Amino acid sequence: MLPVAGFGTRVLPATKSIPKEMLPVFDRPAIQYVVDEALAAGIEHIVFVTGRNKSAIEDYFDRAYELEDSLRLKGKTSLVAELEAGLRPAGSMSFVRQQGALGLGHAVWCARDVIGDEPFAVMLPDMLMMAQPSCLTQMVEAYNEVGGNLIAVEPTDTPELYGVITPESRDGRLIKMKGMVEKPKRDEAPSNLFISGRYILQPEIFDLLASQQAGAGGEIQLTDSMARLMQTQAFHALEYVGRTYDCGDKIGYLRATVAFALTNDEFGEKAAATLRAALADKG
Ligand code: UTP
Repeated sequence: MLPVAGFGTRVLPATKSIPKEMLPVFDRPAIQYVVDEALAAGIEHIVFVTGRNKSAIEDYFDRAYELEDSLRLKGKTSLVAELEAGLRPAGSMSFVRQQGALGLGHAVWCARDVIGDEPFAVMLPDMLMMAQPSCLTQMVEAYNEVGGNLIAVEPTDTPELYGVITPESRDGRLIKMKGMVEKPKRDEAPSNLFISGRYILQPEIFDLLASQQAGAGGEIQLTDSMARLMQTQAFHALEYVGRTYDCGDKIGYLRATVAFALTNDEFGEKAAATLRAALADKG
């Protein structure tokens, strides 16, 4: 389940008429990286929770007849093949609407009828993970061992910007959790491990979200319902091997673009030379 109904106010004006999730990170929309991560982990069906002005996302994952025709007429068959290869089987993506951006918890709840009574993954599309194997693949492996609910975490110097976990005990990279807090004051943070935007949750979360009151920032927070679910179900955090790029603000977006350009198989070296030249120009 990918929530894409937010306004992306931290990257305005870029997001005034383009969904944040469609902004290119080097050569493809941010959301493409997250869908690829889901597919690599064996996810079979993707549910997008969208809102008004987000139709570009649905169009991106659909066939583009006019474009394909025009490319064919010009003999650009390799580009047509590339577009074809990116298409998912018909019926394997669903789109539901969140009628107002009431918070991440509310967005997840909006997917309840499509997901039904099964464990599912939530992936925040503005958090891009550079990891091999992919972050969600590592999580699925850990989930197959411990079950219950599992979230990905990573150390941070700025816990005040994120949800942070309270660990109970640790076994290698797997941490049994005692609790979590949303955006703690820096000196009150229970750990330096932030919740990096990948979750595997049990369907019982939907009942809790149904009655969840607004929390931090006046939004219905997923963290608040997870904290309640933790009272009855096992909850683990996985300190996954890799690095999270938060594209939700302007500098984070720049950092992600640079990192993904530098590690691109085809363009990495050229990107490095271009960036070095740009820095030298600046003096
Ligand atoms: P963010 O808080 O990072 O996104 O939510 P935002 O609200 O779009 O950004 P700002 O704070 O205004 O800059 C993480 C993800 O959850 C989605 C967002 O689209 C984003 O991908 N989201 C958030 C929803 O789908 N619905 C909501 O009510 C809130």
